[in-house]
Amino acid sequence: MNKIKSILVASLVLTVGLMSCDSGDIRRSPGHIYAPDMTYSRAYDAYTSNPNFDDSMTSRLPVTGTIARGHQLPDHLKEGDTTAYKSFSTSMKFSAAEIKEGGRLFNIYCGICHGQNLDGQGPLFASGKFASMPANFKDAKYIHMPVGQMYAAVKYGKNMMGSYASQLDGKQRWMVIAYIKQFQSKNGGDAFAFGEVEAPAKTDSATAAKPMAVNEPK
Ligand code: HEC
Repeated sequence: MNKIKSILVASLVLTVGLMSCDSGDIRRSPGHIYAPDMTYSRAYDAYTSNPNFDDSMTSRLPVTGTIARGHQLPDHLKEGDTTAYKSFSTSMKFSAAEIKEGGRLFNIYCGICHGQNLDGQGPLFASGKFASMPANFKDAKYIHMPVGQMYAAVKYGKNMMGSYASQLDGKQRWMVIAYIKQFQSKNGGDAFAFGEVEAPAKTDSATAAKPMAVNEPK
């Protein structure tokens, strides 16, 4: 008998509980609003419709021809213009730390195909799941490749290789290329022209490079 009673009580509690969830307009309303500006945003939120623009979108594209702070001028390289690629270059010079950063980016974006040893034997190609052989940067075909041609490959892709334009900005592309060129200059390629060559690692702890300071004002 007790069991039936408790089941009845439990189902009653459950029913009342569920009914109390039925909000209706009154429960949703916050009641009297003391400071409406703080309850409801007066600004148009990013994804709300905006009557001030024809397309009613609040998020706008940057004004044509403007460049975001900290970004560089566009390079004006046109897709498919292989003659222009060959003479295309940069006047940027990189510090050893920036070239090292280029190496880090290379290992993230390119190493899967081109290999961390830059020999075209990255894990994706080595697994046999990628049909096209990625460039082996030690190979004679690539060792003297103009930097502009490399830049174009990163920006627009080449055959089976996709474009990396959205992952790497202009400076980062050149940093990755500087890393490849530094590697090539040590393996029979042209003299390195992108700045400081990374000093060979010293084993002596007294002369070892100090760790880079973080939060250093620029
Ligand atoms: C998904 C695999 C893949 C990734 C990732 C990849 N590549 Fe490639 N890459 C290739 C293949 C395949 C080729 C050979 C294309 C051809 O000549 O048909 C190639 C060719 C190249 C070439 C030679 C271009 C030319 O004109 O012959 C350069 C330079 C290059 N890659 C640089 C890079 C850099 C830098 C990255 C990283 C930002 C990268 N690749 C990422 C697959 C890849």
